Amino acid sequence: SDEVEWWEYDDAAEMADAVAGDIGFIIESAIDARGAAVIALAGGKTPVPIYEKLSSAKLDWKRVTIIPGDERIVPLGDPLSNVTTLAKFFLPKGARVMPIVPNAIADYKAAGRSADALMQDLHWPLDLCLLGVGSDGHTASIFPGPDLDEALSGPKERRALGVMPDPMPEDAPVPRVTLSLAAITTARALMIAVTGKEKRAVIETAIKQGQSSLYPIGRALAGTELPVDIHWAAA
Ligand code: 6PG
Repeated sequence: SDEVEWWEYDDAAEMADAVAGDIGFIIESAIDARGAAVIALAGGKTPVPIYEKLSSAKLDWKRVTIIPGDERIVPLGDPLSNVTTLAKFFLPKGARVMPIVPNAIADYKAAGRSADALMQDLHWPLDLCLLGVGSDGHTASIFPGPDLDEALSGPKERRALGVMPDPMPEDAPVPRVTLSLAAITTARALMIAVTGKEKRAVIETAIKQGQSSLYPIGRALAGTELPVDIHWAAA
């Protein structure tokens, strides 16, 4: 992207207000234009206040489909399950919240096939992909490492899914499925929400590195032609 804009906030609550407002606007515009909105939301802890705020917005939730942009292969209800967090906030509003990994599937490849099938059914492109970033530069569950180029150029990359992190991240050492870079960069809107100095520095480096970035978030930013808003809270 040639147009990356940073939005700065003092804290996560202030960021949540702003980002929830922007996501609400994107949802309304998609419904106006196409009768429905399909969005992918980030996992992890940072966006939870955003989801809390967004879920209190008056929107036509019945027309909204929400998927996690990546998922850890754990049972529904597990604290590591991204769809469980989304379901908690948005199911009561009437949104369709779809797991990308079916309950009870423990096998990475089966989960990948199933998630791929789901993505073929959803209408494309996504109206929004909200991304988080790890301090190692990962986004969704596309992790940095020596296999990054291979992972991003395989046949899976044209579709929804890819990339099992290897080695698995220490803070959540479970197999995962993830939106592919292609799914991310073809979304109609791409937005990032992060907190803290460390992640900001990683994103700034990734932007400088561009297409050849060793950070997956750098590849995502280099791979989209859209303007991208990066929302950053100091704490
Ligand atoms: C997931 C994510 C991941 C996340 C970052 C940041 O792991 O499920 O979608 O990409 O956005 O790891 O996570 P935190 O917000 O918890 O730091």
